[in-house]
Amino acid sequence: MSVFIDPKQVVGKINLKLHGQFIEFLGKCIDEGLWVGENSTIPNTKGIRNDVLALLKQLEPPVLRWPGGCYADTYHWRDGIGPRDQRLVSFNENFGTYESDQHQFGTDEFMQLCEELGAQPWTNVNLLSGTVAEMRDWMEYVNRSEETTLSKERAQNGHPQPYNAWMWGLGNEVWAGGGTMDPATYMSEYRRFASAMPSFTHSVFEKTKMYAIVSGPDSNKPREAVKWTEDFFKELAKYRQPKIDGYDMHFYNWNIDDQDDTPTDFTKEGWQRVIDGCFELEDLIKAQASLLRNGLALINEPEGKLDQKLTDVDLIVGEWGNWHYSAFTARPALQQQVSMRDVITTALTLDILQRNCDKVTMACNAQTINVLNSLALTKGDKIVATPNFDVFMMYKDHRDAQALAVPRQDSESQVDTFASLKGAKVCVNLVNASYDEERLINLVFPSQVKPEFVTQLTADDPHACNTFEEPNLVRAKPVKANSKVAKQHEFELPTASVTTVTFSLC
Ligand code: AHR
Repeated sequence: MSVFIDPKQVVGKINLKLHGQFIEFLGKCIDEGLWVGENSTIPNTKGIRNDVLALLKQLEPPVLRWPGGCYADTYHWRDGIGPRDQRLVSFNENFGTYESDQHQFGTDEFMQLCEELGAQPWTNVNLLSGTVAEMRDWMEYVNRSEETTLSKERAQNGHPQPYNAWMWGLGNEVWAGGGTMDPATYMSEYRRFASAMPSFTHSVFEKTKMYAIVSGPDSNKPREAVKWTEDFFKELAKYRQPKIDGYDMHFYNWNIDDQDDTPTDFTKEGWQRVIDGCFELEDLIKAQASLLRNGLALINEPEGKLDQKLTDVDLIVGEWGNWHYSAFTARPALQQQVSMRDVITTALTLDILQRNCDKVTMACNAQTINVLNSLALTKGDKIVATPNFDVFMMYKDHRDAQALAVPRQDSESQVDTFASLKGAKVCVNLVNASYDEERLINLVFPSQVKPEFVTQLTADDPHACNTFEEPNLVRAKPVKANSKVAKQHEFELPTASVTTVTFSLC
């Protein structure tokens, strides 16, 4: 098969925030996975595991979403600040975690982790059991530079400088755990919370620094997702609009049809079901992007001369990843192994997001450590980087690059191609999603190019994964590039593999 790649056919810029990560107090994602505390025998830096920190520093996640997820709707930020030995202890029932919650990793620990990683924090507000005043105080504590009681409290807790954390989610999955609301109920709640957000500017005419994120639809319910967005915008258009910057849809690739199928034990049919499932996201993004446009079109011209019309809202996929049936009963809660099946869907999902970079601006993998589609698994002092980590590392060059118009997938061959342009380099992803067949692909360019680097992630067995006993069984490896300068280049793609090739334009 041949794929034509024209570096002049640009779709748009790939927002680096499409490579975001999500950490939540579920299972052992944060407690024990990321946070062990300063007194732990596990080597740590200010309480954060050194091994996890090293991985995250390599990864450089552009965005980190916290504290949930569903957990955010029971979270009171004051429980997690101040001297750690005086923090409240509660009990965490979320998604079968069933563990006591010591609140050792709180706002300051999260914000300082983001600073250390250069990640932008996306903090999710408790819209269900929290109050507007609580939200406002949280934002003041985090961001106020002027001396106030709350900014002084932050300084006492070790951070005199404001954190400048601008992205805030107002509610999470409000159609389910976040309140089982309907769009009208959510809209009236949202209006109250959004209107109370401080702006952190010094001019009434200056655009607020805050970025407010709406809890969007459950994209796993395609009919409801359409109606939800339609109804949300109808409500929004009825009277003047509160601040809205982003609209956060969630999509999990559920694998629950065959309860004997586990993350590492599946048939060829199970492989195909999961691979096919991840492609649903592409249609959902297109549908939601168009619903957003239609919804914004319902908004009338404002009557007041000083009023600004809401004309644009960013589409976000705040949670995505494979969710296998066994995660529900797993201990630690929601922990899954990551086999080549998950590697392929992670690569395909990133390709979907990047290919639709003109429609979607931010996305977060659910979740970074020990939960669902994770990048690392921990057990006591042991750690293993899953091969999902390698996929994110292999794809780093696409951040802030220009996505090119390349046809998505050859359904017969099951090879998915994606390409982007940055300066004089074209980076190409080749995902062979076939369970049992190798492929040969011919990349054709309008003028001569030179392959510089080839990296490949594959395994002898599609069920392969990294374990504590064999932590590096599935690892991305450099492949010798044929450095000929030509218009056409052929690549062998092993069964179930992800290959990235960097070409320089000549
Ligand atoms: O990522 C796990 C959970 O999935 C999140 O808490 C929730 O938002 C979603 O349902």
